[in-house]
Amino acid sequence: MLPIMIEHVKVPPIKCQGIKTKLINFITTSIKWDGNGVWIEPFIGSGSVAFNVQPQKAILSDSNPHIIKFYQDIQNGTITPEIVKEYLTKQGVLLSKTDDTKESYYYEVRARFNDNPNSLDFLFLSRSCFNGMMRFNKKGGFNVPFCRKPNRFQKSLVTKIVNQIKWVKEIMEGKDWLFVVKDWKEVVQNAEPNDFLYLDPPYIGKNTDYFNQWSDQDADDLAMIAQLAPCGYALSMWAENSYRKNEYLLKWDGEMVTQDHFYHVGANIENRNSVSEALLIKNNYLYTGNMDDIPIRPRPEKKIVQNEIAGQLDLLDISISDEDDFLVRQL
Ligand SMILES: C[S@@+](CC[C@H](N)C(=O)[O-])C[C@H]1O[C@@H](n2cnc3c(N)ncnc32)[C@H](O)[C@@H]1O
Repeated sequence: MLPIMIEHVKVPPIKCQGIKTKLINFITTSIKWDGNGVWIEPFIGSGSVAFNVQPQKAILSDSNPHIIKFYQDIQNGTITPEIVKEYLTKQGVLLSKTDDTKESYYYEVRARFNDNPNSLDFLFLSRSCFNGMMRFNKKGGFNVPFCRKPNRFQKSLVTKIVNQIKWVKEIMEGKDWLFVVKDWKEVVQNAEPNDFLYLDPPYIGKNTDYFNQWSDQDADDLAMIAQLAPCGYALSMWAENSYRKNEYLLKWDGEMVTQDHFYHVGANIENRNSVSEALLIKNNYLYTGNMDDIPIRPRPEKKIVQNEIAGQLDLLDISISDEDDFLVRQL
């Protein structure tokens, strides 16, 4: 199962802070796991890691119920690529008829979602809010402002999102995947010897919101409880930036690999920074062999499909090079 080199990393349909799309191959080529147990990911976020790893059995959980409902809805067919295409096309037209102020249709969808949460509006918000952020106020209401692009849902973006839904739906088929809203503790404590825990908790004290609280105590608890699990684990965490080192890594036993990683906050060049990303892997689960020996999952052949909306030919390409894939990181 792992390690594997993925020639064509794909991007999930929703975004969140700390999304790992740019680190997928770093993760999948560093871990050694036979895939006989369950891939357990208690901080699933956008799903980028599990959807690219594609284990046969998985428990994919998060404390954010909107994320879990969204993926359950794709899994049980409540949301299909066709439904998403129709919805985004209609909503995109309504959005384009309003301006980029507080009067924007975006805020109508946000209010509607906060009154009556549903997966389609959640997708709309995730793909038209500022910087693809996911943040909720004290009452649990989505509170990210509009990206201020009334023409956001042009045909090309709708096609891209529809293809992302199609991809997620296809990879779920025939797999034993459970999406569940749970606190990480409950999920980690049920791990069994053949399982593998991929842990990507929030950054301490940053990006916290209603569903996403993470304190020093949480970080300590995770270090203590996860290391008692009878299976392998890998923890993603920043190792160091220009100013400091992450002392929380010292609480973990295992072997650490790092990768420098550029992130940006907003569009300004000054806000770009480099951070070293760590993967702390339990002893005996780090791949130490030759990189040339790692099996490659080849890039699938590009299929050319008819875009019914535009009557044009579109490429089924949802690779990470898409400019739409924001990386929102705030350390
Ligand atoms: C850094 S993000 C994960 C990013 C993900 N690996 C990706 O690539 O998109 C952390 C996630 O942890 C979730 N989370 C925060 N506190 C949690 C808790 N106590 N239990 C479970 N999940 C939690 C957040 O909702 C968020 O989705």
